[in-house]
Amino acid sequence: MSDVLTPVLSDNWDMPRAWTLESYESTGGYEGLKKALGQTPESVIELVKDSGLRGRGGAGFPTGMKWGFIPQDNPKPKYLVVNADESEPGTCKDIPLMMASPHTLVEGVAISSYAIRANTAFIYVRGEVLHVIRRLQRAVQEAYLAGHLGKDIHGSGYDLDVVVHAGAGAYICGEETALLDSLEGRRGQPRLRPPFPAVAGLYAAPTVINNVESIASVPCIVRNGAGWFSSMGTEKSKGMTLYSLSGHVKRPGQYEAPLGITLRQLLDLSGGMREGAELKFWTPGGSSTPILTAEHLDVPLDYEGVSGAGSMLGTKALQVFDQTTSVVRCVLRWTEFYKHESCGKCTPCREGTWWLVQVLQRLERGAGQEGDIEVLLDMCDNILGRAFCALGDGATSPITSAVQYFREEFEAGMHTPASELFPYQASTVFGAEVSA
Ligand SMILES: Cc1cc2nc3c(=O)[nH]c(=O)nc-3n(C[C@H](O)[C@H](O)[C@H](O)COP(=O)(O)O)c2cc1C
Ligand code: SF4
Repeated sequence: MSDVLTPVLSDNWDMPRAWTLESYESTGGYEGLKKALGQTPESVIELVKDSGLRGRGGAGFPTGMKWGFIPQDNPKPKYLVVNADESEPGTCKDIPLMMASPHTLVEGVAISSYAIRANTAFIYVRGEVLHVIRRLQRAVQEAYLAGHLGKDIHGSGYDLDVVVHAGAGAYICGEETALLDSLEGRRGQPRLRPPFPAVAGLYAAPTVINNVESIASVPCIVRNGAGWFSSMGTEKSKGMTLYSLSGHVKRPGQYEAPLGITLRQLLDLSGGMREGAELKFWTPGGSSTPILTAEHLDVPLDYEGVSGAGSMLGTKALQVFDQTTSVVRCVLRWTEFYKHESCGKCTPCREGTWWLVQVLQRLERGAGQEGDIEVLLDMCDNILGRAFCALGDGATSPITSAVQYFREEFEAGMHTPASELFPYQASTVFGAEVSA
């Protein structure tokens, strides 16, 4: 097949010492910042609006429009907060991006902060990834020394301070309002909205929160123009993006391609399924998005295409599972994660995820009881739309979609353990023999 990859964010990843300022500047790094500083903040916002960039953190909200919500007549300081908490099972694009080319993000932070007239920006990184935190800290230090950050940046009169903040390792702190509480030093739990962060966010001041990849996409838009960016992708989902392919495929990794590529194309590019494997099910955007099956190989991987197939594009974390995988076991593992990460603020999620695990555990053991599938679906129905934040909703998606496509496996859980039907050693990713 023709090579449909469009490396932009990942273009410099294989350069020697790509993470250094010297390497980044050798390929035009920080030219976008200089160009942006020569324009008004409003025109940078217009440019990002025109490009059609949509948030890459999961929901796909238009980035320029979000920036436009910041009330400029509010006398309080404005803040930019970058969401680098990346903790969703399967999601693994922001960490490689920050490791390989932290300056792409730092330049994006400088341009985006200028656009919304913020003089302080925070990058909230999940605490476990110490190597990424160190790399970002070094990149920020290099950028200060080169005059890309700090006082009177490149003689423009614009000042910006950037703080790299380490989270304490909680999935809920990726939810934008929980992240703000955590950044303020409180326990990370979601806030009631309204007020929305654009009006009363960090320290009750106007705040933009964007995903790492969203902000890292800004410098190339400023450098190459809105038309260049919107020429890639589909009618409503513009630009290129990072697809993270993992699981039972020959070459897992980051594949940067225009929005709207299909899983079939990505599998071709990655060498296909591992030897002897057939696609059984996959997630289009991490474990919170309803699973899809081999029927959906040709669904365009853009916001509209995936939602038309009954799921969500989410973080574009394509976890691919073959016929050796027990769907009940897989869904149980995800649900255990949600139970563990539930912040406990609201009853449907705190209690519901615990009960979901109890029922799934007995189905996995082959000790399910008559009516368990109905109980599972009923519990999901009572969580979905009733939980305080999207973590609760997300916990139900893998279960309801798995029952929809693989009900017979849940029925088998009434009498046969998953370990008999799907031995662990067959589905392991490393060094496994695949039997048909
Ligand atoms: C439980 C939960 C975890 C989340 N984790 C992340 C995350 O790690 N990174 C992220 O960018 N967005 C995450 N989000 C989405 C954010 O709330 C928010 O929508 C996003 O940061 C907005 O950025 P964007 O407009 O650039 O996509 C999470 C949402 C929920 C409900
Ligand atoms: S849905 Fe879960 S994570 Fe979200 S507020 Fe309720 S208990 Fe906390």
